[in-house]
Amino acid sequence: MSEENISVLLEEKRVFKPKEDFVRQTNVQKWMDKNNIKNLDELYKKTEDWKWFWEKISKEMIEFYSPYKKLIEWDVPWVKWFVGAKYNIVHDALDKHVKTWRKNKVAFIFEGEPGDVRKFTYNDVYIEVNKLANSLKKLGVKKGDRVGIYMPMLPELPIAMLACAKIGAIHSVVFSGFSSLAFRDRINDCEAKVVITCDGFWRRGKKVYLKEQADVALEKAPSVKNVIVYKRTGDGVPWTAGRDVWWHDLIFDAPKQCKTEELDANDPLFFLYTSGTTGKPKGIIHAHAGYALGTAYTLDWTFDIKDEDIWWCAADIGWITGHSYIVYAPLILGTTSVIYEGAPNFPGPDRWWEIIEKYNVTSLYTSPTSIRLFMKYGEEWVKKHDLSTLRILGSVGEPINPEAWMWYYKYIGNENCQIMDTWWQTETGHFMISPLPITPLKPGSATRPLPGISADVYNDKGEPVINAGGNLVLTTPWPGMLRGIYKNPDRYVETYWNKFEGIYLAGDVTRKDDDNYFWIQGRADDVLNVSGHRIGNSEVESALVSHPIVAEAAVIGKPHSLKGESITSYVVLKGGANPTEELRKELREHVGNEMGKIARPDEIWFVTDLPKTRSGKIMRRVIRSKALGKNVGDISTLSNPEAVEEIGNAK
Ligand code: WT7
Repeated sequence: MSEENISVLLEEKRVFKPKEDFVRQTNVQKWMDKNNIKNLDELYKKTEDWKWFWEKISKEMIEFYSPYKKLIEWDVPWVKWFVGAKYNIVHDALDKHVKTWRKNKVAFIFEGEPGDVRKFTYNDVYIEVNKLANSLKKLGVKKGDRVGIYMPMLPELPIAMLACAKIGAIHSVVFSGFSSLAFRDRINDCEAKVVITCDGFWRRGKKVYLKEQADVALEKAPSVKNVIVYKRTGDGVPWTAGRDVWWHDLIFDAPKQCKTEELDANDPLFFLYTSGTTGKPKGIIHAHAGYALGTAYTLDWTFDIKDEDIWWCAADIGWITGHSYIVYAPLILGTTSVIYEGAPNFPGPDRWWEIIEKYNVTSLYTSPTSIRLFMKYGEEWVKKHDLSTLRILGSVGEPINPEAWMWYYKYIGNENCQIMDTWWQTETGHFMISPLPITPLKPGSATRPLPGISADVYNDKGEPVINAGGNLVLTTPWPGMLRGIYKNPDRYVETYWNKFEGIYLAGDVTRKDDDNYFWIQGRADDVLNVSGHRIGNSEVESALVSHPIVAEAAVIGKPHSLKGESITSYVVLKGGANPTEELRKELREHVGNEMGKIARPDEIWFVTDLPKTRSGKIMRRVIRSKALGKNVGDISTLSNPEAVEEIGNAK
């Protein structure tokens, strides 16, 4: 994040108080009334006893098959929650609802980009999940097996995830915008036995042929025995007989009932890959019961979910936001969710506002990037629609700049909605720092750690600091906490637990103010935040270097008015190669093919050398300062200080 933005955040002094009649009817206020807690300060104080809190809230939120013997086993940094309990998240998400009036309540409203609509009641989802779960079993998928899912925003994606969870298989969803090669790496890392994908989907009026992309990945994915293909667009697809099977054929005569596997509360539910500081993405592991509790509680309290609500988390299910807040938490709470297939600005920049009006959406949860995009189109598009059903708004993925916050508050919320700026990560599973609906808001601050969560800001010596930038840390375990990195316990320890003894390092630079409000300022490590998505600098660098003509590459982030950060790369070509415009395009496409469009560099500069330490480490920080026209500091220890000049003059 740019220093300019940080200074804006530092100056932000406005406070927005929630309206009293709104406060009175919120879930959290009612909970406080019931438990004789008078105000927010008392709530935070009381819940410092986090074991007491999680114990209590677990009784209200989730149902075990058999009770736990111990709330938590905390063998730093390895955690187990609800030790000894039998549990399956699908019980809370579906099974319990079909025994109540919610059986016929709509779980998902799906709107396709071309305008087709499908609605699924809880019972519909339940039956579809059962049929697919039985079919997976028929293909030989067993408890603990991994299933790779490469699907766009279709209701069949949550159905596929839940079908895996139901039988104790572990899903590993890969964002449909990622490339074949990114998909291949991920299914190979987790050794998926089965892949679930679809023929194609709609994006900006055009079809994306996903099965073709999946097939490229599958050429070198020896663990995959079968591929289940859901038919969305109805176009012909490449087919491998014996391996590929149509979803509709497979489930055609599958039984409508399927027993939900009674798992250990700590059995893994899914892996989700995320970028780190080295080239290889990390397979973050999440487990059933703790994750269920953490996601459900945070959605219920933060977004104040009521039975009449129409909830719209406009993220993609392929990221953690969608896993937690489109699939699991809303289902556990028995909520109605909107799933929209396509682009936000197709056919016009008011598609989202049209959807809100059409379905009476009550909460919208999105990213600062999207808000800035709509800001650019202008409020005229918003004003064409009646958005008066909205009662709460949310933001996630990156720091929200106060300008975007104010626009969101004014034009989308009509100065009538709390804005929930939720800080969390793939690793945390659920919101960690976020306002409650009763919290006075400061634009640009995620406010305070939620009840049950302990966060702080430490300097490099491990001392808590106030009113100064430092390391965001989490000081007690939480239910949705990651259970490690798949096949890489050392990396888990090293990445999160090595800097401060027994303390989780989030990797974000943060400041805490006098009111204990947290101001997240951006990543501290070499990870870019592009449109609210994490992309490792080194991942883009490896993609560039995998092109035969590239010798070396360095990637940095530059502040970008829409995307938060843009990807800028400096490339050294192999001997004799000529830098040309075509080559620039080719390299951009190459990264797109390796990783997906989201990772394509916005700028590619050709240089003959990159600044390095004597041990050969590329100095991204120096490159970044030079590229942004800032002071590069002492470069006398570099092995080639002259390379810094070249960055400034790069073409
Ligand atoms: C990183 C996690 C959690 C879902 C989306 C991204 C940044 C996330 C906020 C926020 C400032 C935020 C952080 C974090 N981030 N939410 N409200 N304010 N920064 O998940 O890909 O795991 O990325 O996103 O830098 O560490 P992710």
